[in-house]
Amino acid sequence: VSTVQVLLGERSYPIRIRPGSLADLGEALVAEFETSHAVVITSKPVAARHFAALESGLLRAGIAFEPLLIPDGERAKTLRVAAGLYDRLIEGGVTRQTLLVGLGGGATCDVAAFVASTLLRGLPLVQVPTTLLAQVDASVGGKSALNHPRGKNLIGTFYQPRLVWIDPDVLATLPPRERRAGLAEIVKVASIWDADFFKWLEENAGAVLGLERDALAHAVARACGIKAEIVGLDERDAGLRALLNFGHTLGHAVEVVNGYRHVRHGEAVALGMVFAARLSERRELAPAGTAARLVALLARVGLATEIADLQAQRPAYLRALAVDKKGADGAIGFVALREIGRAELVRLTADEILPGAV
Ligand SMILES: NC(=O)c1ccc[n+]([C@@H]2O[C@H](COP(=O)([O-])OP(=O)(O)OC[C@H]3O[C@@H](n4cnc5c(N)ncnc54)[C@H](O)[C@@H]3O)[C@@H](O)[C@H]2O)c1
Ligand SMILES: [Zn+2]
Repeated sequence: VSTVQVLLGERSYPIRIRPGSLADLGEALVAEFETSHAVVITSKPVAARHFAALESGLLRAGIAFEPLLIPDGERAKTLRVAAGLYDRLIEGGVTRQTLLVGLGGGATCDVAAFVASTLLRGLPLVQVPTTLLAQVDASVGGKSALNHPRGKNLIGTFYQPRLVWIDPDVLATLPPRERRAGLAEIVKVASIWDADFFKWLEENAGAVLGLERDALAHAVARACGIKAEIVGLDERDAGLRALLNFGHTLGHAVEVVNGYRHVRHGEAVALGMVFAARLSERRELAPAGTAARLVALLARVGLATEIADLQAQRPAYLRALAVDKKGADGAIGFVALREIGRAELVRLTADEILPGAV
């Protein structure tokens, strides 16, 4: 059992990580909020696997609740789905005391957070993430997001949940490919922030992937802890939080060039991290051997580390990078590694990131 506190003044909240605890959420809700009514936002595949446990706890605690189903995964992240939830909640007599519970992967959590942050100018929100990625990444930081036809996550708010409830045991039903993709984000926070944790992963990544209880709970707690620390220092994404984009500049480009459908976000981030580590070495920002350690760890997790079509598809990658352009100087904020456990934001042009011939 461990608790990670996300410290954001009056918006602080706990992340509770307890294997086998899904059925205990009801009691916790009664203890932490004086509520007798909750609405659970979830999708069919997740509900089929995990709603029964949650339901038994809510019943036991005497909480009146109602499940609201939304489409599975990314398809739920639309204004239309959000509007449908507003309709059903308003027809159901929502008040500012109605607790919204998001049960599912990062996509479901994003939609639940968006609706909680906007309906009646804010409803209390409890997140119950059920994928490894959502547990270590989407559950910390308070970003809600919907997609626009022109791009992912273009619509959203900052909104902190009141509680995040993580039962790592729910990952037993998660396909191995999704587990590996989630592990990429764990490797990411270790790479930028905590060399000891990186070393621990080098020894224990197999146990985490195999869902060994202690190892998994430790990895989830430490990853949440690192992200919580960074977000606590920079809630509104003004500087430091950009380090969490390590591997994401090229990662996004990999997703765009290959199509979001074909590559999992974590898989793209793994490729992007290796690319970034090699670039850091080439620019003499990181000592030789840094990228090799990252490659070895990711390979142990079963994640691909080489972008096969980078030179052949260079124009497409450059176009994708151009979308990331932020400053007036045409440079891109790129997260470089200084060593394992330490990162730094540097500004590079697309040409410096992807030179014509390497
Ligand atoms: N708000 C944030 O800070 C933040 C951070 C990271 C990612 N995200 C968002 O999260 C989304 C990605 O999250 P994701 O990787 O969890 O994908 P996802 O939410 O699309 O879920 C992936 C699949 O896993 C299934 N699933 C969920 N839990 C399961 C379980 N326990 N067993 C079996 N199957 C299960 C779902 O049904 C879905 O089909 C993206 O939309 C991304 O933008 C948000
Ligand atoms: Zn990511």
